[in-house]
Amino acid sequence: MNEAAIDQYSRPLKDLRISVTDRCNFRCRYCMPAEIYGPDFPFLKHSEILTFEEIERIVNASAQLGVEKVKITGGEPLLRKQLPELIHKLFNIEGIRDIGLTTNGMLLPNLAAKLKSAGLKRINVSLDAIDEELFAKMNGVGISPENVKKGIRAAQQAGLQVKVNMVVQKGINESEIVPMADYCRDNNLTLRFIEFMDVGTSNGWNWDQIVTKKEIMAKLIEHFEFNPLDANYYGEVAKRYQYDDQTTEIGFITSVSESFCSTCTRGRLSADGKIYTCLFAENGHDIKSFLRSGSTDAQLREFIAGIWEKRNDRYSDERTEETVKNKKKIEMSYIGG
Ligand code: GTP
Ligand code: 5AD
Ligand code: SF4
Ligand code: SF4
Repeated sequence: MNEAAIDQYSRPLKDLRISVTDRCNFRCRYCMPAEIYGPDFPFLKHSEILTFEEIERIVNASAQLGVEKVKITGGEPLLRKQLPELIHKLFNIEGIRDIGLTTNGMLLPNLAAKLKSAGLKRINVSLDAIDEELFAKMNGVGISPENVKKGIRAAQQAGLQVKVNMVVQKGINESEIVPMADYCRDNNLTLRFIEFMDVGTSNGWNWDQIVTKKEIMAKLIEHFEFNPLDANYYGEVAKRYQYDDQTTEIGFITSVSESFCSTCTRGRLSADGKIYTCLFAENGHDIKSFLRSGSTDAQLREFIAGIWEKRNDRYSDERTEETVKNKKKIEMSYIGG
């Protein structure tokens, strides 16, 4: 490793979240509402998207600055053709010790074994409800939760570790907190409850829709006993707990009620090759043009280090009524969460 990249608040660059496509086969209301992401929506063109070789070069340069963990996201990352080839390339980069992928699970029956052979060890699958009707409504395309469960089973059978992500929204899927906990416990899956965040401008977010960790806990405590666990590593996003019988874990991602910016080590790379230093950053840094203008590996490394060293983002720490309303924000499906 060359010299580690450190930002203005002494946070090292440790993780890179890479969006490999801005497209998705779901239309979750809180992320890609169907009335905005319709048939005429101007998704990125193939030529605008980074190639696997370009992503590989960026990850290689980032690894030399301290990146150890890569997260593949989208849109829906499994829509990107030949994705296992990318996993394989990244898996072979010196310094990368962990690769994860966050998916809606629909395409896992076909892809789980190929992803595992390519070197992937674990995935996170989004599932916001197991009630048939509610889930069909929430994903915006009428998909049954059975399809996602099938994907989860395929991933488990392929030997991948699986976590489940549930974004909890007031008045929408609070009633699913306990049924989801039951389903995950019965199937040896770690469930993470995610506080709904004000990402982008198209999901109609407001403060009244948040269900906080505290509120979720209050519901769980009526049915289960669990104890807190220590963080697995510096800057871990989820606060983890373990059920009393020590079988499975649950986690909470508390970006709204207990922000975690002070230990945020995550850079983000959009599908069209821009580096963002925060999920809520206003602008990205165009690494694709830099790359395509013939820059060397050393220049690429300098470019990334230069961006990270100037970084002073801490949006969730600073969230106010004013920032929620007036700050320019990028969409989750574009930056990958
Ligand atoms: P692993 O620890 O690798 O399993 O994944 P993760 O929990 O970091 O990532 P995942 O892609 O499953 O995302 C879970 C939730 O955490 C999503 O809602 C993300 O948007 C959110 N999240 C991840 N990183 C950050 C971050 O840096 N800031 C904020 N505010 N939210 C984040
Ligand atoms: N707030 C919190 N989580 C979100 N996700 C998508 N949009 C939001 C939001 N506004 C989740 C997805 C997926 C992960 C990448 O981010 O459900 O699990
Ligand atoms: Fe697709 Fe995930 Fe967004 Fe839902 S939350 S529309 S599955 S990218
Ligand atoms: Fe990191 Fe920005 Fe999320 Fe804070 S809001 S944890 S700085 S990505």
